[in-house]
Parts: sequence; C-alpha cells; structure tokens
Amino acid sequence: MFFDTIQAAPADPILGLGEAFKVEARPEKVNLGIGVYKNAKGETPIVKAVKEAEKRLLDTETSKNYLTIDGVAEYNAQTQILLFGADHEIIAGHRAKTAQSLGGTGALRVAAELAKRQLNVKKVWISNPTWPNHNAIFKAVGIEVCDYRYYNAAEHKLDWDGLIEDLSQAGKGDVVLLHGCCHNPTGIDPTPEQWDKLAQMSADKGWLPLFDFAYQGFGNGLEEDAYGLRSFLKCNKELLIASSYSKNFGMYNERVGAFTVVAENEDIANRVHSQVKTIIRTLYSNPASHGANTVALVLKDDALKAQWIAELDEMRGRIKTMREKFVELLKAKGATQNFDFIIEQNGMFSFSGLMPEQVNRLKNEFAIYIVRSGRINVAGMTENNISYICQSIVKVL
Ligand code: LMR
Repeated sequence: MFFDTIQAAPADPILGLGEAFKVEARPEKVNLGIGVYKNAKGETPIVKAVKEAEKRLLDTETSKNYLTIDGVAEYNAQTQILLFGADHEIIAGHRAKTAQSLGGTGALRVAAELAKRQLNVKKVWISNPTWPNHNAIFKAVGIEVCDYRYYNAAEHKLDWDGLIEDLSQAGKGDVVLLHGCCHNPTGIDPTPEQWDKLAQMSADKGWLPLFDFAYQGFGNGLEEDAYGLRSFLKCNKELLIASSYSKNFGMYNERVGAFTVVAENEDIANRVHSQVKTIIRTLYSNPASHGANTVALVLKDDALKAQWIAELDEMRGRIKTMREKFVELLKAKGATQNFDFIIEQNGMFSFSGLMPEQVNRLKNEFAIYIVRSGRINVAGMTENNISYICQSIVKVL
C-alpha cells in the first residue's frame, strides 16, 4: 500500500471557499471570496472585445499544431508594450524576453524555478499580508520565505517604516516580491515617491525584484498602474515580471499570463530565456494557444484595443462606485467605525479589518463568504446584494 498514509490537505484559503460556496444551499448566499469581477447584474461576462476576437479566430484558425515552448510571439511582444510602454528603450534594445505562461501563477512558478535552479537564490521577501499562494509557490521550490511588514492595521495604511526596516535586511541576490499595483489583499499601493525610493533601495542593495503584475488597469489606468514597475526599471537593469490577463481581460479560465525577464543586454536576456524554456518544458512542455491568440488579436487591432480599454475603464469605474456605496451603506446601517479608508484602496479587494470570528459569523449566519484575512472582493458586490452585505457586516461588527 502506498496511499494509505497520506493525510488530507487543508482546503485552499481562496479556491476552497469557492468549492464550499458551490454547495451552499441558502438562496441569499454571496461569494466575496475569489477575485473575480462581476457586473451590475452579478455576472462575469465575456469582455466584448474578447468575444469579437474569438469569433475572428474561429474563422481564421487553420491548425492546432503545437506552439513553441514560449508561446505566441505576438502575445509576448504585446505584453512587453503594456508593461514598458511601446517606446521604451528595453523593447528597442531587446533587453527583455517574455514567455507565455499558465496565468500569473504559472509565471510566478517559473520565476521561482529560475531563482532556485539558475540563480541559487536563498531567500525571497514577501509582503505580510500577501496572496497566500506566493508563500506556497516559493516554499514548493525550497526557497526560504521572509516577510516584510506592509500593513498598518490601526491606521489602515501602508506600514512604510516597517516595510523599509524589514527590507533593509534583504541582501544582495535576494528576491523581493512586489505587487505591481492593487496590492492583494490590502488594496494599498506605495505612492510614486515611495516607489522611487524603493527602486533606488533595490538597486543600492542588489536585490532581484520580482513584480507580480496581475491587476494592470484595475487601479488607476493601464499606464498609471505601471508606475512602480517603470520606476524600478530606471534604477534596476535586471528584473522579473509575472503578469496576468485573468482580471483585466476577464479571461480567468483561459490561463493567460506571461513571464518576462529584463536583463542588462540582449545576449544575456537570450541566455536566461533559454533556461526559462527548459524550465517550462519540464513543467508543462508548452502552453495553450486560444487565450494568448485572443489577447494578441485584441492588442494588435487598434479598434479592438480601444474597445477593451473602454470596457476595462468601465470595470474599474464600477468597482470605485461600489466602494463608495459600500462605505455609505455601512454608515447608513449603523456602523460606528469609520470605513472611509475603503474608498482609497485600489483594485478589486478591500481589506475590511474584519477578524476571523466575524468572517466565520458572516458565513455561518448570513451565507456571505469572504477570505479569512478579512479581504472582501468589492468587485463581487451589486446593487442587489450590497444592502444585505452591509446590514450583515454591521451585525457582526
Ligand atoms: C484571488 O486572489 O482571489 C485571485 O488571485 C484568484 C486566486 O487564484 O487566488
């Protein structure tokens, strides 16, 4: 017998909630756990620009032959344009190489494998709190995870002093993981001045920065949200980026992500990329084409791209409106605490300050599912459920 000693694994803190929600029988149930956008009707529709690109693809596709290990070339090129801006010297100098990946998570795993196999990285510094899978991915490859302080719970803001104090211990060659924008779970990002200081600190100390860039366009806009990354690129010649189109293209189940290496010059970038391909070959051989071809088609067609940006702006606008309503209704339903800080947070999530017992009560008494850390997916709120959500939260406060 081989299997009889295996212990059952705990449910995933985010995806496990979705499984429990599926079998939840109470009709008033609300899922504010996983980071998925919902429109005013509570649906997660296919972005129109995506649907149009898919139609065109269906008509023009002639083969299901394998992609190369690093995926769709046009997709990778378009990814760099979104990350750096079309006129960036990195693109002109071919200093970056991108490989299509299985979502942002796939890109993070490739980054972790590269750090372990090729760079002999011993430590990765990850914000506390963070998306739980960050820690799990680096632990899986045997790299020690160190925390840096990020959140000042009393004042609901960035713990800048704590962050600097902790990161001052990060040494040369350590990977420092940064959330490009819309920090998950807090929704709090550094200011441009703080990004500039961090970028300089990174260069001075010799860290290898790894940007997890999963929400470009959900904070303040596609260009605005790239500020932190581009600030780092001014000071750091080498950098890694894990990006994702799950959220901003709404292509969650197509697993469209990308892993980008920025190196000092083209020759080095090519060498690193060859190792990235070796890693991908041993993980999943080569990626799937549909999602990447769709994204590439949207991004290279001016009209489709403009339509996508308009739809993205609409998603961002709706989330901002829901934030304001959320705060307003909490007050109206009798909350005595000040929740104004929620309006300032970026992206899908709001770090509410709810404690685990309150999170449990929301689930047990009201069928409202949120992540144990108190993270609420504001993008899952609608005109229909927000009143019930606020009323229930006030009851558990
Ligand atoms: C989230 O944080 O909810 C998303 O990034 C989805 C996931 O994979 O956890």
